[in-house]
Amino acid sequence: MCGIFACVFCSTDASRKEMIDVLLTGLHRLEYRGYDSAGIAVDGAGPEEPIVIKEVGSIAKLENRVKEVESSDNRMKEDVRFKDSVGIAHTRWATHGPPSRENSHPHSSGPEDNFLVVHNGIITNNAVLRDMLTGHGVKFESQTDSETVVKLIQFLYDQLIQSMPDLSFPRLVMEVLRQLEGAYAFVFRSKMYPNELIACRLGSPLVVGTKDYRGTERDVFKVNKISQYNKLSNRGTPAPITPVLNIVLDKEEPGTWTDGGFRGEYLFSSDAGAIAERTDKVFYMEDNDVVHVRHGNLEVFNFHAALDDHVLSDNRIISTLPFELETIMRGSFDHYMLKEIYEQPESLTSTMRGRIKKDEGTGRYEIHLGGVKSRLRDILSSSRIIFVACGSSYHACLAARQVVEELTDVPVSVELASDFNDRKCPLFRSDTCVFVSQSGETKDTLESLSYAKGADAVTVGVVNVVGSEISRQTSCGIHLNAGSEIGVASTKAYTSQIVALVMFALQLSHDRHSKDARRQEILAALHEMPYQIESSIKRIDEVTLRLAKSLEQSASILLSGRGFQFATCLEGALKIKEVSYTHTEGIHSGELKHGPLALIDDHMPVIFFAASDNTKGHIQSALQQVLARRSSGVFVIVCTEDDPDMLKYRGNMCELVEVPKTADCLQSIISILPMQLLSYHLAVYRGHNVDQPRHLAKSVTV
Ligand code: F6R
Repeated sequence: MCGIFACVFCSTDASRKEMIDVLLTGLHRLEYRGYDSAGIAVDGAGPEEPIVIKEVGSIAKLENRVKEVESSDNRMKEDVRFKDSVGIAHTRWATHGPPSRENSHPHSSGPEDNFLVVHNGIITNNAVLRDMLTGHGVKFESQTDSETVVKLIQFLYDQLIQSMPDLSFPRLVMEVLRQLEGAYAFVFRSKMYPNELIACRLGSPLVVGTKDYRGTERDVFKVNKISQYNKLSNRGTPAPITPVLNIVLDKEEPGTWTDGGFRGEYLFSSDAGAIAERTDKVFYMEDNDVVHVRHGNLEVFNFHAALDDHVLSDNRIISTLPFELETIMRGSFDHYMLKEIYEQPESLTSTMRGRIKKDEGTGRYEIHLGGVKSRLRDILSSSRIIFVACGSSYHACLAARQVVEELTDVPVSVELASDFNDRKCPLFRSDTCVFVSQSGETKDTLESLSYAKGADAVTVGVVNVVGSEISRQTSCGIHLNAGSEIGVASTKAYTSQIVALVMFALQLSHDRHSKDARRQEILAALHEMPYQIESSIKRIDEVTLRLAKSLEQSASILLSGRGFQFATCLEGALKIKEVSYTHTEGIHSGELKHGPLALIDDHMPVIFFAASDNTKGHIQSALQQVLARRSSGVFVIVCTEDDPDMLKYRGNMCELVEVPKTADCLQSIISILPMQLLSYHLAVYRGHNVDQPRHLAKSVTV
């Protein structure tokens, strides 16, 4: 959670106002990562006089606060231009301490603001470090672990500077990092090192954008590897605070871009999407990277390379961001969530683009998933395929499990990443583990991935965010290509995940003659699906808007279905819960009579999913059982268009939501649309912030 953004203007003569604009725009793009509080730090009269502005709540509130400060604080009344300047910014999802100005970032080393930091992640040895610092008389203003870090840097600086007057900023920060346990991305600025910036990461994402105003493009940054005389033998115990720095550079020559006179900007962000407005040239920081910007030069150090003896690339390669700006703009939609629901014809097309091809001569379809081809043999010879994910991504796995089993004849299990981690279930090199994640940075899923790698299992990533941790750490994978998903509630990524997993099954079974007819049926249905959604979404939206009105006062809703629709119940219930805050349960129809039927009365709204597949008979009997136990109230059936078995239920007691019919194993992709729209409209009726539901954030990195 939390979003970090920072900018360094190098020889650009940009004004303070321009810096503030860049920071606030970046924060707006990152707001989905946390919206409990936000803050920025910019130069006052100069870098030695930083101005920190923080506010509880949204970025819009911070913007207002900035305006207030601009008109009330003499240091800001006049806009000033700086040859070089550094700005840092943060949007917070509270972990340590409630949302408040004190707990907001940037955190300061003290009243003098000698050091300022923004942080994403969790420092697990916070308590030990805090006690140690308190013992040395250090005072704290907040309850955050981030403040501990900035107090620690001041503490170490005070100790070291006496004996090392030439102590550099990266060396100082690396000494701080040695003391920390947990996960982090940090950006530091300091009065002691004017116009310099340090960014570092371990386990939390950080991407660096470069924009050269001279038009000279750089494509690689060399990495300086760092070794230490004293190996830290055990990072699990409180690390010693040593007064002597014992870090040395392996190589004397700097890993800098020293072609002289850089004029431009460097941008740092938790997510590449926030940088895209200023540059499409980025590189992704690796774990233990420490990036230092000074005098227009950018140096990359890798802090642990020599310690861990693991092979690390010597270069950080600049890549060009693939996505387009409009995918991160809201356009004419009131909310990102609605935009993303409506975008599904395009996002699904993009997930399939170049991967499903039709031979116009024969009418046959072919599948080509380049990202998994190299490991097909290993995957097919696996004794099990295990899907691992959280939340909506977990539901997408459930939706696809049956067809993967059907087409591959390999047993498939679906695991909640958190539970998988708790159980540490037996895993072997003959297993294939598929990690499904929109963000590619969910902590629980990453933890499962590292466990699977330890067991030597084949690892496959199915992720939306290019360059994300899961995409980088798996041995092969599929990118969803659904475009940036900004709404906290997953919609278009969910449907693209199901399509990606179905394509995975189709690819794994590409040479199975006995499955040929079924494969062609599914491929043709996939090809048709974006058009089906495009032509029906407006009508479905109108129906669900009415339905939302009738459910506006409901305290609870029950969703039920089975077969391929079980996942739809769970996902529909999650959507309604998270954006409209209505208690909703998704229950397997086969389970109703084993307990949940007791909930049925005239007040409990019920939504059934009745697909035209082999579960229909069972669904009809469950429907009857529920209908027989009530005489009024909202009762809805989501079914395929013109299904005569369902049309007979239409009437006073029952509302039908008809959706286009597709292949049975793909029906869940279309049946979820009314639930996405229903949850959206319910939330709007109830006046909730749809794109930023309370207590949630888009990437769950803690
Ligand atoms: C719900 C939602 C979450 C995510 C979950 C996993 O709408 O978006 O349940 O699906 O936090 O996130 P990823 O897919 O990024 O691993």
